[in-house]
Amino acid sequence: MFSFFKKREKIKLPYTTDIHSHMLPGVDHGAANADHALELIKAQMEMGINRFILTPHITKSTFENTPETINAAFGSFMSVANGWGIDVDFRVSAEYRIDEFSIAQFEEDRILPMPKAHILLENAYQQERLDLERILFDIQLKNLTPIMAHPERFSYYAARKDRYIQLHGAGVLFQVNLLSFAGYFGKTARHNAEWLLEHNFIDFLGSDIHHMEHAGVISEYIQSKDFRKIASRLEGRLLNDSLWD
Ligand SMILES: [Fe+2]
Repeated sequence: MFSFFKKREKIKLPYTTDIHSHMLPGVDHGAANADHALELIKAQMEMGINRFILTPHITKSTFENTPETINAAFGSFMSVANGWGIDVDFRVSAEYRIDEFSIAQFEEDRILPMPKAHILLENAYQQERLDLERILFDIQLKNLTPIMAHPERFSYYAARKDRYIQLHGAGVLFQVNLLSFAGYFGKTARHNAEWLLEHNFIDFLGSDIHHMEHAGVISEYIQSKDFRKIASRLEGRLLNDSLWD
């Protein structure tokens, strides 16, 4: 039916680089194939993203990826993606769960860093590792800047906010998930994300996108008043685009 009301322009993300996603087919439980990846990419293009750092999981037992397995998957993916004719750029790295598998890779210098020598690290979920500080320090000795993936999702930090202060103070950058602000991971993650926002500890926002349900939640959330407030609080602070330029 004819409408007198012009469709409202959709609000976009305040940056064009997504630094955390699971869209590289065949190496983790994100996009199952290139068509699925293309759907996720198009959904994010509508949100204003045109540069993607692909960060498949590296986890002991489940996804024992190495620079070789990831580079091989990225090569095949790019040969398909180049034929899509869409104006986007890709880089490839990984999301390293800090476990025995990753630690062995770090010790052998088998690392696939993000641009500008950053590395995306994921904590253990049950409890913080006792040797976390030492591992982070060893990584920094390799001239890599650690980025902690979604620090708000580790529920043990809810009662230990001092750890956020210590880790950030030690040079660990924080990447918060848009999905956490949207409430997708529950109250504790949302509460932690708000705390990090209030204390100016958010360096990056990220999608951590695995499938279309994530895309739908994020796309709806960024249209909200709540997100507008968060974006204005973060104005001038986010490093997403500086990681790429
Ligand atoms: Fe992730």
